[in-house]
Amino acid sequence: KLGVTMYDPGYMNTASATSRICYIDGDKGILTYRGYPIEQLAESSNFLEVAFLLINGSLPSKPQYDTWKKHIMTHTFIHENLISLMQNFRYDAHPMGMLVSSMAALATFYPEANPALRGEGVYKQKLLRNKQIYRIIGKITTIAACAYRHRIGRPYNQPSDQLDFTANFLYMLDHLSEKSFTPHPKLVHALDVLFILHADHEMNCSTAAVRHVASAGTDPYTAIAAAASALYGPLHGGANEAVLHMLEDIGTVDRIPQFIQDVKDRKKKLMGFGHRVYKNYDPRAKIISRVAYEVFDVVGREPLIEVATALEQIALKDEYFVSRKLYPNVDFYSGLIYKAMGFPTDMFPVLFAIPRTVGWLAHWLELQDDPELRIVRPKQVYSGHQTRDYVPMASRE
Ligand code: SDX
Repeated sequence: KLGVTMYDPGYMNTASATSRICYIDGDKGILTYRGYPIEQLAESSNFLEVAFLLINGSLPSKPQYDTWKKHIMTHTFIHENLISLMQNFRYDAHPMGMLVSSMAALATFYPEANPALRGEGVYKQKLLRNKQIYRIIGKITTIAACAYRHRIGRPYNQPSDQLDFTANFLYMLDHLSEKSFTPHPKLVHALDVLFILHADHEMNCSTAAVRHVASAGTDPYTAIAAAASALYGPLHGGANEAVLHMLEDIGTVDRIPQFIQDVKDRKKKLMGFGHRVYKNYDPRAKIISRVAYEVFDVVGREPLIEVATALEQIALKDEYFVSRKLYPNVDFYSGLIYKAMGFPTDMFPVLFAIPRTVGWLAHWLELQDDPELRIVRPKQVYSGHQTRDYVPMASRE
């Protein structure tokens, strides 16, 4: 079934699926998007071009790219009612909770969000899909920026119509709260590379979530909110925030041996290490550790990088980690970069969700075209009581 996405019948209990979007070889540490090695995309492409590749299956020509970029950048504004919804969260609401809720709420701003529900034909549904994709990719950065501005108690910034995707996001954050704020090109490039590296990753927990929800015919806004909910977990997209807390708890290089012992005693986990698929160095982690120094050149060295590199060197030589094939994953260094760029730790999963929204959309779209799509209904292995009779409460001890 080359090129056709389908859940093999075993999906109901093996949770496997076929897809054309992303390939990983965990033993060799290989990651490709639609066949292109992640190293080449990180080196030569930009996030919006990679977004086109993931969604449409090939790299765009110049006219295709310009049209794609124009459509997305004209959909960056969000409705004033959505802004006021966000402004009514608690002053210290977690930005990821705001992102999940606001993405789900976005569906309510488009009554035609789910044309299948309204009995619309396939042609109308396909026409609408493109607009839904432009809207979600355009608005995810604005929602994220609004959550950040709420988090720091500052007014929301309107998107710029002069800047590219990633520069516009940094502009809306407006760290320096100066309207003249023009994002530093090296920081824009570093964040754009991080967005490329986080854009998709095969059947990870949140992508499996979007595929489950999409199989029920749910609209893309609500399906993306479901995926973001999965990403929020500390074992998944929340790990970059957990890595920072871990490094801050360790504090200094001389306290690493005690931490390693706590991990061996199963009191702690080495966050940012280990992966269900990679039993080798995560190729993204290699690139991210280089990007870190590009950012430090601009904003100054993040002191915790010493603890991180010492911890990595020790763990890579320690039998406990080597025998379990535990290597740094995408989250080990990304949090240090975000901290150096001035983001609060609770924004880290949001910075993961922005690019991964493109991967989730690519998977949502892939399922829409699957002629053999059936609603996902995993088989269960029952391990409860055998059948037994009801006992009236008066007769129970
Ligand atoms: C992401 O799936 C994806 O692709 C995800 C992701 C993506 O792009 O979408 O790559 C993003 O989520 C990266 C992972 C971020 N999470 C963390 O860094 C949290 C710390 N990592 C662990 O929780 C763990 O490694 C997982 C969750 C990532 C993977 O867990 P697995 O595959 O279920 O591995 P496991 O729990 O079976 O571990 C095997 C052994 C166990 O030891 P034993 O019980 O056999 O003696 O390794 C140990 C585990 O205890 N182990 C760890 C460890 N990870 C695994 N021990 C200490 N620290 C760790 N981080």
